[in-house]
Amino acid sequence: MVYKQAIEAAKEHFGKVLEGQLERVEQLKKEQVWIDFEDIRPIVIGILGGDGIGPTIVAESQRVLEYLLKEQVDSGKVEFRTIKGLTIENRAAQLKAIPDDVLAEIKKCHVTLKGPTHTPERGDGWPNIESANVAMRKALDLFANVRPVRLPKENIDWIIFRENTEDMYAVGNQGINVTEDLGIDFRVITTQGSRRILEMAFDHARRMGKTKVTVVTKANVIKTTDGKFLDAARVVASRYPGITWDSWYIDIMTAKLLDVERRHEFQVIALPNLYGDILSDEAGQIQGGVGTAGSANIGKRYAMFEAIHGTAPRMVREGRAQYADPSSVMRAGAMLLEHLGFTDLGSKLHKALDICGQYEKRVIMTGRSTGATSREFGDYLMATVQEPDMEARWELYSVA
Ligand code: IPM
Ligand code: MG
Repeated sequence: MVYKQAIEAAKEHFGKVLEGQLERVEQLKKEQVWIDFEDIRPIVIGILGGDGIGPTIVAESQRVLEYLLKEQVDSGKVEFRTIKGLTIENRAAQLKAIPDDVLAEIKKCHVTLKGPTHTPERGDGWPNIESANVAMRKALDLFANVRPVRLPKENIDWIIFRENTEDMYAVGNQGINVTEDLGIDFRVITTQGSRRILEMAFDHARRMGKTKVTVVTKANVIKTTDGKFLDAARVVASRYPGITWDSWYIDIMTAKLLDVERRHEFQVIALPNLYGDILSDEAGQIQGGVGTAGSANIGKRYAMFEAIHGTAPRMVREGRAQYADPSSVMRAGAMLLEHLGFTDLGSKLHKALDICGQYEKRVIMTGRSTGATSREFGDYLMATVQEPDMEARWELYSVA
């Protein structure tokens, strides 16, 4: 048989992938407990600027966080720490998705606020290292990617729970070219990995008084892995009798997000990694652009907060980095506050962002010189968040 050798080599490679994943499943079986920020002092917040528009927009989010947390910083409850070196230049020089010394610094923080980092793709001039995002999600076991989308004027309040460590991403850089003409990638879905993201989605629904969780797969076609995710959904849902759930296929789900009559009926959405990547960009666009959408990467021990979008190389190339919308990382900052237990501060920041970005819009961003700069938007947001009656004003807008 002509391909015997190629097949044997592929089998051996596949065997190694399986060994790694079975080991991972064993790790997942060991219950981990959630970190409790109540007793931690200081809570260390690491700041990672990232690449492209990252440093510009992260600076604006850091500014508002430092303002809101001033009391906690003064009393020693919270500490900000800048971490250098998570740049494409340094990562390429060290041929590492995350250089070891940078990862060690990240692990000394409880949470991080991170700018987008460049993900090399074949032929773009950078060595083909793994995405820093994907590597960090795996290294810190940040299994839940939580992406809220709010459009109060349309009564939309979605929250997407995207599984963050499995699916096509688990071994995305371990695919194999069996021959020159045949490439195979591997999709990984585990019972444990599915259950924990679904549990988080259902827990969130229960805590926030939501009534429905929508589970999205393509289980009619991708029977084994999506089938397993859906099986996990049935098991988890049975433990939440007060919450209904429905199952949608990803194709019709992307269509339904454009159905202005019905889309407000979605509440909590839970789905595997790649579908979640795509659906959350669509949802972010509906909110007003991916530049307005923040994202939380949450694990039981660590958490990382970031924009849902990338480094915007086109904006940088055309000299427009200073016009990047910082609301995405500011939303991420609001989620960071909520995660640490500063729920009132988080809610305040969300409301200020609603006012500036959706209701009042006194400063308009266009991503170019026809609109405001990140700094100008940051100034506007800072002024808004400092108004004593800001939250009352938000109430008025939100019922109007
Ligand atoms: C995201 C991004 C990342 C992803 C990229 C940068 C690897 O698109 O956070 O959604 O695909 O997860
Ligand atoms: Mg994405």
